Amino acid sequence: MAEDRLIEAAMAAREKSYSPYSGFAVGCAIESASGEIALGANMENASYPLGVCAEQAALAAAQQAFGLDNVVRMAIVGGPKGAELVAITPCGGCRQAIAEAATVAGYDIAVIGRDGEGNLSETCISKLLPGWFTF
Ligand code: THU
Repeated sequence: MAEDRLIEAAMAAREKSYSPYSGFAVGCAIESASGEIALGANMENASYPLGVCAEQAALAAAQQAFGLDNVVRMAIVGGPKGAELVAITPCGGCRQAIAEAATVAGYDIAVIGRDGEGNLSETCISKLLPGWFTF
């Protein structure tokens, strides 16, 4: 079966991760309702807390490209630089950021991933962060 194009896009984005401090590269690809794709990768900084996760980088790109209200799916892949992918899910802060997009979109957002053996995972933000904060 052909690789999901969104997973492939996330893997390509991961290649552009700037993560010299953790050595852990994450890529994220976000698909819009009309099939557009926005990309992001983690961007670290010598001042460690200023680093940005791949998901938040991609959400910022998605807002510019097609708007958070049009986000339908996100693919997230990660692993040690130069090594196989490992199965990951978004950190707590990123879950809240994805939930923000689901709030403005008015529907759930699918979150997919892939490990180094090609095993795919699929969940959604309402399962990753039930009862997320909004007002
Ligand atoms: N990271 C992400 O990009 N997304 C996550 O959901 C969790 C962690 C990044 C932050 C840091 O640059 C590296 O992975 C190691 O924590």
